[in-house]
Amino acid sequence: MPTLQATFYGHTYDNPFMNASGVHCMTTTELDALADSAAGSFVTKSATAEAREGNPEPRYVNVDLGSINSMGLPNLGLDYYLDDAIKRQASHPDQPFVMSVASYQGFNEYVANMRKIQESDYTGLVELNLSCPNVPGKPQMAYDFEDTDKLLTEIFAFYTKPFGVKLPPYFDIMHFDKIAAVLNQFDLKFVNCINSIGNGLYIDEATDTVVIKPKGGFGGIGGEYVKPTALANVRALKQRLNPSIEIIGTGGILTGRDAYEHLLCGASMLQVGTQLEKEGLGVFERLTAELLAILEAKGYASIAEFKGMLGTLD
Ligand code: FUM
Repeated sequence: MPTLQATFYGHTYDNPFMNASGVHCMTTTELDALADSAAGSFVTKSATAEAREGNPEPRYVNVDLGSINSMGLPNLGLDYYLDDAIKRQASHPDQPFVMSVASYQGFNEYVANMRKIQESDYTGLVELNLSCPNVPGKPQMAYDFEDTDKLLTEIFAFYTKPFGVKLPPYFDIMHFDKIAAVLNQFDLKFVNCINSIGNGLYIDEATDTVVIKPKGGFGGIGGEYVKPTALANVRALKQRLNPSIEIIGTGGILTGRDAYEHLLCGASMLQVGTQLEKEGLGVFERLTAELLAILEAKGYASIAEFKGMLGTLD
């Protein structure tokens, strides 16, 4: 029987599956359920300095091939997630997880949030979300290469705990090169590719209107629509980043085959967003069974035997 064990930043998880931040991770109750599920690990909702209600509803809609959302970073505030993370780390030291941190105000809040974590007792992994597309009037940090460089330089001047970044999708080879050149200057532990494809538009055929209220209907696209873009980003960054920076693959994971393809492109862990929202926590059992069946059929004993080994035609 093959194993799905996944090693990520020094810990071996039963399998590589996690939720994607934003899905089933707002409250401690939801986080407890994730911790008790078949997922290998989990990530918390991206926290801002202060609690936020987020954008007006409707702000998340499932559609046939995925989802569109403009949640606007609703969350219970950094103190809430930090308190929970400290308690969780003390009570379950053998079950590491990832704490996600964002910013509503921009550069200075990112720095202040990371300073607060640095000064806290939490020592686990942090995912710095540089890619929320849903704050009206605020661009995604990681599309500004200079500001991302400045931000990471400022954070690394004081931050000594392990962290990685969540990136938006990039669509041009030059942009893969540019972001990799920025990230390779820093001792990042991981990069998460990708956040939703920002500012898509979905139209309801019956009413000729958009389906979400914020930003005139523009929102982040997830699910089946985004898999090729996600795979390209995982692959492109795996090829360009220092080998010490691991990749979390996120985007379009509906089946074991989708998960297998992210691993082929070089992902170490896998996050599931839209499909978790559509199917509930049972998705993790189904995905692990489907991925195991693929390993068995192909005669692999472990993920390490094919991770990153995507074939090309040259
Ligand atoms: O709007 C939101 O809360 C989404 C955040 C994200 O995509 O990172």
